[in-house]
Amino acid sequence: MQLSHNTILITGGTSGIGLAFAKEFKQRDNTVIICGRREDKLEQIMLQHPGIITHVCDVADEKQREELVEWLVTNYPDVNVLINNAGIQLDTDLTNPCNLDRVRAEIETNLVAPIHLSSLMAPHLRDKNGAAIINISSGLAFAPLAFMPVYCATKAAIHSISLSLRHQLKDTHVKVFEIAPPSVDTELGHDRREDKDQSHGGIPVDEFLAGAIEALQNDVYEAAIGQAQQLREKREELFEMMNK
Ligand SMILES: NC(=O)c1ccc[n+]([C@@H]2O[C@H](COP(=O)([O-])OP(=O)(O)OC[C@H]3O[C@@H](n4cnc5c(N)ncnc54)[C@H](OP(=O)(O)O)[C@@H]3O)[C@@H](O)[C@H]2O)c1
Repeated sequence: MQLSHNTILITGGTSGIGLAFAKEFKQRDNTVIICGRREDKLEQIMLQHPGIITHVCDVADEKQREELVEWLVTNYPDVNVLINNAGIQLDTDLTNPCNLDRVRAEIETNLVAPIHLSSLMAPHLRDKNGAAIINISSGLAFAPLAFMPVYCATKAAIHSISLSLRHQLKDTHVKVFEIAPPSVDTELGHDRREDKDQSHGGIPVDEFLAGAIEALQNDVYEAAIGQAQQLREKREELFEMMNK
């Protein structure tokens, strides 16, 4: 895909991978719009990175998703790229009755929101030059970590949806990408950690970003970055080793 002169909506742009994409695409001469729930973070980003446009939106809320797209196409009718990036990662113990509100929130954020936003945006994107939908899945889509079963299932579903969406849009201008990150050092899952600032390991965001940008530039529609590539190739073969 072309990496300049787009108008791009990135969901979940307040930290980690979404913010890294936002800064990179801004630098490459794109109009960049990010959304997230944390208003204070969005304000801070607007001050630190003039030109990045922000919008408060909880993508887990159906009405807010509809309002977001209406606002977007009214104010930025040239929008031609959607990056479905917002996500949460929770642990879920399936050996006891689980908290369904948490389960639903994770599925709504990680799966229903990208499905809904893609379908709301598709009619606006189909005739736009350079149009793309970029879904951020995970290496864990291919081989799950068993303590976060719902998270991994949502990412496996994002892989599947990306295949179907690409097929449904094959006769339009819209390119559909799936980028599967490996473990990347971001805020993801920090609620699980006692020390919120503690890193969960993983590669630096910039290293991930370089791989993702290369894939987009070369029209690699399904790109597993770094160790995610090994997970994609070996799939369940790695399950026992990963879950020891
Ligand atoms: N880091 C990794 O190791 C890794 C590996 C594979 C895949 N991924 C995927 O990469 C994507 C980005 O994650 P990250 O690692 O960059 O984590 P992160 O630093 O925690 O960022 C997550 C982003 O999602 C936003 N978000 C979460 N729930 C939202 C909601 N309901 N509405 C709107 N925005 C919401 C957050 O913004 P607010 O809190 O402001 O709403 C934040 O900007 C996720 O889809 C994740 O599953 C990450």
